[in-house]
Amino acid sequence: MKRVGFVGWRGMVGSVLMQRMMEERDFDHIEEPVFFTTSQVGEAGPDIGKSIPALKDAMDIEALKTMDAIISCQGGDYTKEVFSKLRESGWKGYWIDAASTLRMDDDSIIILDPVNRKVIDKGLAAGVKNFVGGNCTVSLMLMGLGGLFKAGHIEWLTSMTYQAASGGGARHMRELISQMGVIHNSVAGQLDVNGAILDIDKRVAETIRSSDMPVDNFGVPLAGSLIPWIDVALENGQSKEEWKGFVETNKILGRSDSPIPIDGTCVRIGAMRCHSQAFTIKLKQNVPLDEIESMIAEANDWVKVIPNSRDITASELTPAKVTGTLSVPVGRLRKMKMGGQYLNAFSVGDQLLWGAAEPLRRMLRILIE
Ligand code: HSE
Repeated sequence: MKRVGFVGWRGMVGSVLMQRMMEERDFDHIEEPVFFTTSQVGEAGPDIGKSIPALKDAMDIEALKTMDAIISCQGGDYTKEVFSKLRESGWKGYWIDAASTLRMDDDSIIILDPVNRKVIDKGLAAGVKNFVGGNCTVSLMLMGLGGLFKAGHIEWLTSMTYQAASGGGARHMRELISQMGVIHNSVAGQLDVNGAILDIDKRVAETIRSSDMPVDNFGVPLAGSLIPWIDVALENGQSKEEWKGFVETNKILGRSDSPIPIDGTCVRIGAMRCHSQAFTIKLKQNVPLDEIESMIAEANDWVKVIPNSRDITASELTPAKVTGTLSVPVGRLRKMKMGGQYLNAFSVGDQLLWGAAEPLRRMLRILIE
């Protein structure tokens, strides 16, 4: 792979991508990395440990056309604006995208190689050129439960999510922290043991509901509360985030023709960058729990089964533990009251890593190798 273009490398997902590419020395394998910009053409590019040309214009189709592959974290509007123009100009290079715009197109593959390497390889052999990162919740579910999907044990599942502020973007993360600060400030003088808890609680509730709370990005308070709706509404009562769980999972697994029913409720909570999910899984048969645990644990190098006991769950199966790492712990594994075919599970994963940047850099490595 000679020339690889990078667009949107300075944003949040792009920065995580750069960080991971540096850690894994990915740039050693790219002959000519070229960095594009929408605002700083001609300025110096990032320090990646080798010399690179000055920043090029991300809207310049002629410049983009000279790339063998382009990796974009610039967002859906950029993809909408540039991608078809680039293809119409006759460009035959590989397009790797973090945005959802092209995800469900027939000529694109949703990339999550620890789970669907076979689908990716088949696509590459068939000449597919468009590779798109999946929705973060979907990718993290499949990294956690990939072993059960692979074994064909799942009849249906529900996913009840606990999604972090970072899913909304960097501004949302800042707003969550600001909201926490406003709440704390409102009662900071009363927090010693002598402060009457009902007075503190009343003041906190008043603050959360007041115009003191910064809500420009979330629209409503998230700190001290939650938002049981993510993304736009569909006509059937689902949110778009909930719809993605079904369509994207089945596309990633290459089984859109015989899809596994998947549904649930997607909820925003006050975590920073880890999405958690509680699953109810209907198994096709009563598979013993120890076999289930082995299947889950052996599916990839990052999933980790957490024993279903309180202390280890509270310390290992949380956003606080997982944030900033590639680890995908799965725990709370137990058969449910409804019967031996009903499995309970809970997973946590960093939505900026496996949920966004990591599948992109790994796809690039697949193309390079
Ligand atoms: N849609 C996700 C969320 C993030 O809002 O949490 C990106 O997949």
